[in-house]
Amino acid sequence: MNLYTLISASVVVVLAIFFSLPLLNPTYWLSLNLKSWLWIPIPSSSLSSSPVIADLVVRNGVIYTSDESLPFADSMAIHNGRILRLGNFSFVQELAADGTEELDLGGKVVVPGFIDSHVHLIYAGLQMARVELHGINKKDEFVRKIKEAVRNAKEGSWILGGGWNNDLWGGELPLASWIDDITPYNPVWLNRMDGHMGLANSVALKLSGISNLTKDPEGGTIVRTVDGEPTGLLIDSAMKLLLPYIPEDTVNERREALVGATNHALMRGVTTVVDFGRYYPGVSAELPWEDFSDVYQWADASKKMMIRVCLFFPMETWLRLHDLIGKMGRAISQWIYLGGVKAFADGSLGSNSALFHEPYADEPHNYGLQVTESEILYNITMASEKSGLQVAIHAIGDRANDLILDIYESVVSTNGMRDRRFRIEHAQHLAPGAAARFGRQGIVASVQDNLYTYKLSHCV
Ligand SMILES: *[C@@H]1O[C@H](CO)[C@@H](O)[C@H](O)[C@H]1NC(C)=O
Ligand SMILES: *[C@@H]1O[C@H](CO)[C@@H](O)[C@H](O)[C@H]1NC(C)=O
Ligand SMILES: *[C@@H]1O[C@H](CO)[C@@H](O)[C@H](O)[C@H]1NC(C)=O
Repeated sequence: MNLYTLISASVVVVLAIFFSLPLLNPTYWLSLNLKSWLWIPIPSSSLSSSPVIADLVVRNGVIYTSDESLPFADSMAIHNGRILRLGNFSFVQELAADGTEELDLGGKVVVPGFIDSHVHLIYAGLQMARVELHGINKKDEFVRKIKEAVRNAKEGSWILGGGWNNDLWGGELPLASWIDDITPYNPVWLNRMDGHMGLANSVALKLSGISNLTKDPEGGTIVRTVDGEPTGLLIDSAMKLLLPYIPEDTVNERREALVGATNHALMRGVTTVVDFGRYYPGVSAELPWEDFSDVYQWADASKKMMIRVCLFFPMETWLRLHDLIGKMGRAISQWIYLGGVKAFADGSLGSNSALFHEPYADEPHNYGLQVTESEILYNITMASEKSGLQVAIHAIGDRANDLILDIYESVVSTNGMRDRRFRIEHAQHLAPGAAARFGRQGIVASVQDNLYTYKLSHCV
């Protein structure tokens, strides 16, 4: 998976000043009904009474304020990471004293930090540590990337990566023999871009006991030479022969992943994310909970949180989340906010499992897959209604979207209209008339515009 699938803010920021928005004009936020984000303590009394001295004055910028009464300002006074005053330089300068730092922006643009509303932060960080083969269009380059990864790897550790696409170098499928001589001591596993096959080197084949004697499992193929020797390529369910041998990500790797992904987000001006965690159909619902305690709470306690996160948890664990909120509140700290629950209605386009009203052109009997029962989706949506949890459901195909719109509509008609922010993640293919229903029912179409670029098989 490419990182940009995960961190999708696409606007270039010249300079993002963090934490600025909520202070600019709290009533503006309230009028947008963004109450849920206002867990940030607002020292509003200090704004009017005893003037605080700025520790930084920024001037000569084009500062976008999100405040209708003063949309742009050229200067800004900051104290302890919070905005004290915006306006012209002389006005802002009133709050400066000895020791106030001054920063001349030379006309650069300043905008509030971006909020990316759909990321998988730790997963993204883990991907960053892996071999990235997206866009590689030469065999030599493919091999060089692996060589580079081996150089940085401990003997015996797995080298993982993916994103390769043999069509980009003329179609020839890769072979273990391409990389065997440069990886004599490390098992290697490299997913194809669509996730339906991968390349193992000979060390990895041996380690997982795949040999010329291994039979193809049902629904899968071990690609072989004319002599019957595995070439290293494993297709579909044959991948299951190898995957259990890949060790789980360690706590340290996951912590480093958070730090890496955070830096990546900050470089792009993203200061807050909604994180849907390392969770998709078929994996354990425990993963996001482990990340919550091992990674997020650790980072918070050790003052390593640099961006704000709003966490969503697997739908089937809603009660656990409900209980946790009862104990700790929604805002665990100024950095971590317990947001809601996430479920899946269907699969993905790249694997022909998104649910449609009409069959796939290349598979006339396949309409896609409903991955969670409607009754479960309905029940959980109703339950969340009672406990005040926000619900987000993944739906790619038009039928999946209609299904979720129906469920949401029935909850709304039973319980009445209110600001509950039901979300449909991706909302990618809509049947005629579906778009208008989002508006009528106040449902958020949580669209990720750049999923197309990176093949949808990994879109979760
Ligand atoms: C600067 O801003 C202050 C406060 O808004 C205003 O009173 C003053 O007239 C402004 N000065 C100039 C030169 O625009
Ligand atoms: C499998 O490989 C082994 C060792 O390379 C060889 O001895 C054996 O004949 C092969 N068996 C088949 C069925 O190809
Ligand atoms: C959904 O909720 C109803 C009413 O509480 C219950 O009878 C039913 O068993 C639930 N269904 C599922 C699949 O959980």
